[in-house]
Amino acid sequence: MGDQHYLIRGGLEGRERLRVLGRVMRPTTLPLLERAGVTAGMRCLDVGCGGGDVTFDLASLVGITGSVVGVDLDPTKVELARGDAHQAEISNVEFRVADLADGLGEAEYDVVYARFVLTHLPDPAAGVATMVAALKPGGRLVVEDIDYRGSFAHPDSAATDAHHDIYVRSAQATGGDPYIGAALPLLLLDAGLHRVQPTIVQPAGLEGEAKLMPALTLENIKATAVRHGIAEADEIDRVVDELYALARDPRTYLAIPRVVQVWGERP
Ligand SMILES: C[S@@+](CC[C@H](N)C(=O)[O-])C[C@H]1O[C@@H](n2cnc3c(N)ncnc32)[C@H](O)[C@@H]1O
Repeated sequence: MGDQHYLIRGGLEGRERLRVLGRVMRPTTLPLLERAGVTAGMRCLDVGCGGGDVTFDLASLVGITGSVVGVDLDPTKVELARGDAHQAEISNVEFRVADLADGLGEAEYDVVYARFVLTHLPDPAAGVATMVAALKPGGRLVVEDIDYRGSFAHPDSAATDAHHDIYVRSAQATGGDPYIGAALPLLLLDAGLHRVQPTIVQPAGLEGEAKLMPALTLENIKATAVRHGIAEADEIDRVVDELYALARDPRTYLAIPRVVQVWGERP
């Protein structure tokens, strides 16, 4: 799968959006990694690692006796992640440009992790099978992904409705599944994993960075939505402005899509 088919803008702007998303998700991603048993000395793989936000958290959990590889098909994000690792003098991470569709190697890792990646794949079951193959026996696959049905704003807002509609249609137009979260537990069971453990989290707030996510996301899918004739550029710009206004409004309670977290063990 080439980068040109990816729904969300890559490169520097895409990486900046991921920094915000990383801060919004960190309070629930860290406990997931702990529940899945990530611990000192392990070898981990972060698939579709983006700028490496979770890769760096995995690196600190596995410590100097462990190691983490982050792979992503966006060379700009991978280069930025390498720069951040170098600057912070983190020596137990390595970043590679790679496409999940080309395979990830065989039975090498204690933990394979992927956040917000399966939603973009035309064949998520094949993606799961590739990630499972990269696990040692007894290793764990840990995934988190969205179910866009869960996003909401109160009071109801035409801008959040428009964002929802444009996002879902753009994701589907690029071969992705914006509702994949709900399917994750069965995807892992069908891949032969044991002890499959699902949970749901949903960042939301009257204030804070979660409220910025709809505006940031719509800005970053604008090119895709326009290319597929889903919305005009000036219509998207207007909705983005309204979404930023909602983010500033202390009387709007806004939730990003619910996120299904699940891990399972390779027998
Ligand atoms: C929404 S971002 C999430 C990044 C990171 N996992 C995080 O949570 O911060 C999805 C990432 O998956 C990458 N990606 C999409 N399809 C991929 C594929 N087939 N192989 C490798 N990376 C892929 C994109 O380039 C992007 O950086």
